[in-house]
Amino acid sequence: MRVLSGIQPTGRFHWGNYFGAIRQYIELQHAEQAYYFIANLHALTTVRDPNVLAQLTLDAAIDLLALGLDPDKAVLFCQSDVPEVSELAWILMTGTPMGLLERCHAYKDKKAKGLPAHAGLFTYPVLMAADILIYDSDTVPVGEDQIQHIEVARDIAQSFNHHFGETFVLPKAKILDASAKVPGTDGEKMSKSYNNTLELFDEAKAQRKKIMRITTDSRPVEQPKAPESDHLFLLYSLFASDEERESMAALYRRGGFGYGDVKKALADVAEKYFAEPRARRAELAAHPERIHEILATGAERARRKAREVLNRAQQACGVCS
Ligand code: TYM
Repeated sequence: MRVLSGIQPTGRFHWGNYFGAIRQYIELQHAEQAYYFIANLHALTTVRDPNVLAQLTLDAAIDLLALGLDPDKAVLFCQSDVPEVSELAWILMTGTPMGLLERCHAYKDKKAKGLPAHAGLFTYPVLMAADILIYDSDTVPVGEDQIQHIEVARDIAQSFNHHFGETFVLPKAKILDASAKVPGTDGEKMSKSYNNTLELFDEAKAQRKKIMRITTDSRPVEQPKAPESDHLFLLYSLFASDEERESMAALYRRGGFGYGDVKKALADVAEKYFAEPRARRAELAAHPERIHEILATGAERARRKAREVLNRAQQACGVCS
């Protein structure tokens, strides 16, 4: 089994990134081969300050390592260090119907809001297809919002295989039911673009403040509440043990408690949960040269596989001499 996934350095990672995706990366790194990359070329569609993008890319690598990604087990690299991907993206683009990309939600949403869209946003799913197909990936751990993109990668691979002969492995998304769509502080999907995120490594005091501002309804303290439909409860559940979750659910059903107490419990449990990675992060951040080394070694390993698959695709469509 070959596992692959990518994450954009468009901001500091949040709980949605961790519980939807990063936690899976770490669990799956014991699989036969796991490739994880920082999608800086995708991020360039939104981050337009070069210093910010470079810093966020380095931070992303540090965060992943601090959270438990082991560079001796998984291949960790930066998307732009494998130029073969951009070359494959072009080859794939020549056979990708406009209609397929017009249906993709990132572009469609922007258009619906009347906002100007760049070609990079429109063709974003093709670069993502190249990211996946170039490593013969069969399993792609992601959150729910990426399922459509993986379907597009499958469609593109299938139509290439149909036209030029068997070339690409067909990938499958892997999602965790319990955290495929982590809610943000307002109950919508947690997302940088909705401004409702809780970051993994925020300073503890600032994080507590954000947690205390999570929106809740105005039902009186004594009224029983259904835990399943409450985003504060869902956030608490991400961190809690089965026992803790059950006793919190019982409290909800019984009523007679304030949301403030749940928020305090959430802040405590989250702080404890990320305490170790936070300490590891501080050590890693003190040696950026080691992080660059890890990324360079990862890129070398990734390129070996990428060259092989790009070559196969070039042979198949007749663009090699
Ligand atoms: P990105 O950077 O937006 O998100 C990284 C990962 O985090 C997951 N995620 C969530 N999961 C659950 N609940 C949430 N609220 C939540 N928010 C984010 C995402 O589903 C994703 O798995 N296009 C990709 C990056 C990419 C990629 C790839 C992924 C580029 N090439 C190839 C897989 C394979 C993206 O924008 O993810």
